[in-house]
Amino acid sequence: MIDSIKTNLKAVLETALRTANDLSEVNVVVEEPKRANQGDLSIPVFMIAKTIGKPLPETAAHLQELIRSSDLAPLFSSVAPLGGFLNLSLDKAAVAQGVFRDFEAALSEAKAGEGNGFGSLSIGAGQTVVIDYSSPNIAKPFSVGHLRSTIIGQAIGNLLAKCGFRVVRINHLGDWGTQFGKIIYAYKHFGDEEKVRQNPINELVKLYVEFHEMAKENPAMEDEARRIFNELEQGNPEYLRLWSWFREVSLEDYMKVYELLDVRFDSYNGEAFYNDKMQPVIDQLATQGLLKEDQGAMIVDLGEDLPPALIQKSDGSTLYITRDLAALFFRKREYHFDKALYVVGNEQKLHFEQLKAVVRKMGFPFWKDIEHVNFGLVLQDGKKMSTRKGKVVRLADVLNEAIELSRQTIEDKNPDLEGKAEIARKIGVSAVIFNDLKNYRANDFEFNLEEMVKFEGQTGPYLQYTSVRITSILNADDFHYDGNVDYSLLSQEVFFDIIKAAGDYGKTIERAALEASPSILAKYLLNIASLFNSFYGRERIAVEDLRERRTKEHLIYLVREILDDGMRLLGMKTIERM
Ligand code: ARG
Repeated sequence: MIDSIKTNLKAVLETALRTANDLSEVNVVVEEPKRANQGDLSIPVFMIAKTIGKPLPETAAHLQELIRSSDLAPLFSSVAPLGGFLNLSLDKAAVAQGVFRDFEAALSEAKAGEGNGFGSLSIGAGQTVVIDYSSPNIAKPFSVGHLRSTIIGQAIGNLLAKCGFRVVRINHLGDWGTQFGKIIYAYKHFGDEEKVRQNPINELVKLYVEFHEMAKENPAMEDEARRIFNELEQGNPEYLRLWSWFREVSLEDYMKVYELLDVRFDSYNGEAFYNDKMQPVIDQLATQGLLKEDQGAMIVDLGEDLPPALIQKSDGSTLYITRDLAALFFRKREYHFDKALYVVGNEQKLHFEQLKAVVRKMGFPFWKDIEHVNFGLVLQDGKKMSTRKGKVVRLADVLNEAIELSRQTIEDKNPDLEGKAEIARKIGVSAVIFNDLKNYRANDFEFNLEEMVKFEGQTGPYLQYTSVRITSILNADDFHYDGNVDYSLLSQEVFFDIIKAAGDYGKTIERAALEASPSILAKYLLNIASLFNSFYGRERIAVEDLRERRTKEHLIYLVREILDDGMRLLGMKTIERM
């Protein structure tokens, strides 16, 4: 909030100074002074005096007048020159009133079905973002990396939507590629239909592993698998039928994870969807003279800094990047995106650099709108968490374990809780989500199930618990929001810290969305939750004085709305009791 007052003040003064002094350019700096006696904000006057060619005292008086006659005037209790500075003190009651006024405007918009609640913005209006996330590989387990992509992508999508962007969520399923030649080979030679039906992913993985073991002895199998994939690309009906069956049973399995996370996509067009959309791209590359032959294969040379992009193998089959190129052009045509985001692990950095570089070479300016939203590894005991005793970690199991731990905690703390199975589910899943999102996405982080489901500390349940606590305080007094607030009371430090944080909500969402960093919002929520908890530790809410009580209740109501809205944006569930 201080930030936005600073920006507004700067803009207002610069415009006013330009008009009043007939200048084309003037720079006003608004600082937060380090020293206590300099007010809340301070403007160095010297440079401005130089620009407008007037003595220091006269310039300071001029500025003072400009502030007094602006819309911002009510926000300041005093504006006074001191040395080379103009020092401003905030009128905290007026600031508090401003925060509540914004909140109420958002509430009424939300009621009218416009806007989407407190802190919603319109910076994205008229713009479209396509966001490619989750994107697991068919016939393979849904990995921890895909879980990260799903959680991060979902949150970024929500944040962008909150900012007014049109968001298109795409699950770019890995449902094409040479591995299908191998799986089809293995299935035809030693597969069992019934087993695949019963436990699809497990069985398909087994076939894939078996294939590799046997191919070590018998390298001709590799050639055969390549031939099968090639025929699949040409439309061999038997292979297509098998492939589509593998795809279907795998997707059914992934849906269980999506249901737990409550994640949905606008499109499940995976790599296979682009099978008939690659040739035009290859043709265009050829026409533009960008395609080069290299030992029978087709590549695009990307200069000194990047290895060449392999577009087509010598046997004519296409590659991951070929499909990504086709997908990108398809998305541009279909959705007219202003930004294309890819939520994919750090290890694919090179791939996305190459993708951008090829688009750039082709002369499309939208290469600049392509962004690899990268993320780090999930670690367990310092090692990459992907396999457990040689077995792949199944994501649904991890989520279910988190739910089970939450159920035990509820059993300990509040065994009579009504609807506890559903609540445990909301706590467990949200705990996993929050534990991921509180970390800056590009960093690796440790996965510790016991820690993340705790009700205290920097956890999801802590946020949910704080919200529940506020709800029960408000319900105990039968509170209803009516806007009856004594703003002068809110200028006291304990109150005002919360007001300041509440006023920063919109800016926080904007930053989190534009930087594609849900952790910015996650940290903000931890902060406002702990501000509330220390407030609650020091101040009694249910005081005799009705005006004071109502004011305090309005304040914590505001905190609860922010917590719930923020959690929703992160993809977590809010609850009413726990
Ligand atoms: N399926 C890929 C993988 O698991 C991720 C796909 C990411 N999206 C994309 N358009 N390349 O590695």
